[in-house]
Amino acid sequence: MTTLYELDHVARVFRMGGSQVRAVDDVSLRIDTGEFVAIEGPSGSGKSTMLQLLGALDRPSDGTITFESNDLGALSESGRTTLRRNAIGFVFQHFNLIPTLTAAENVAAAMAPTKTSKQATHDRVQELLGQVGLAERAHHLPSRLSGGEQQRVAIARALANAPRVLLADEPTGNLDSTTSIEVVDLLGRLVDEQQVTVVIVTHAEDVASRAARRIRMRDGRIAA
Ligand SMILES: Nc1ncnc2c1ncn2[C@@H]1O[C@H](COP(=O)(O)OP(=O)(O)O)[C@@H](O)[C@H]1O
Ligand SMILES: [Mg+2]
Repeated sequence: MTTLYELDHVARVFRMGGSQVRAVDDVSLRIDTGEFVAIEGPSGSGKSTMLQLLGALDRPSDGTITFESNDLGALSESGRTTLRRNAIGFVFQHFNLIPTLTAAENVAAAMAPTKTSKQATHDRVQELLGQVGLAERAHHLPSRLSGGEQQRVAIARALANAPRVLLADEPTGNLDSTTSIEVVDLLGRLVDEQQVTVVIVTHAEDVASRAARRIRMRDGRIAA
């Protein structure tokens, strides 16, 4: 197993007026390549803050977090942007698809910064939509897709540039429980078939139980 993430005494403190919130508080952990990890915990326990740190969207106030041995806290803003674009895929609770673009166009949009040729983009989009079971829905607008289908398009989009890790914040938060299990099992299949590492934040017990490893947070800390 190779180490993907190493967190060493990581804290993220938000200062609000006179008070401070330790959203992530003294977290040390390692995540290996190819793991399927669920981060669980009650609302306000620091799960989203943790995911933002893993996604190089935010930097720790204290401690170090490395991704493939790169110190994320030491990277410049543009260094973090490049890393996110090349190595990290994001999936959100509200899907965040562009409503005026078809499923295929939404996925293709993620590849625009990579200057891939039109034909190669088309082929890759078809491949990705096939992987999430939506080849037949390529030309539908998001409004013509169910919630589960929209989230699968969002997963295809997140995979477009072959990230090494996929980070998902409450990806099933807007889905019924049957659809939630389908989506989380799709993520599990991607871990197995494509060796992509997946970290999913959830507070749904049946979703978390599908992950190979569960990390529980409470008040910014990893609960025993
Ligand atoms: N940008 C911010 N500014 C101030 N406080 C924040 C900010 N982001 C999160 N917090 C606080 O940090 C704590 C953890 O939040 P969050 O990571 O969103 O938890 P979760 O995702 O588990 O619900 C909460 O008390 C929240 O209010
Ligand atoms: Mg959250």
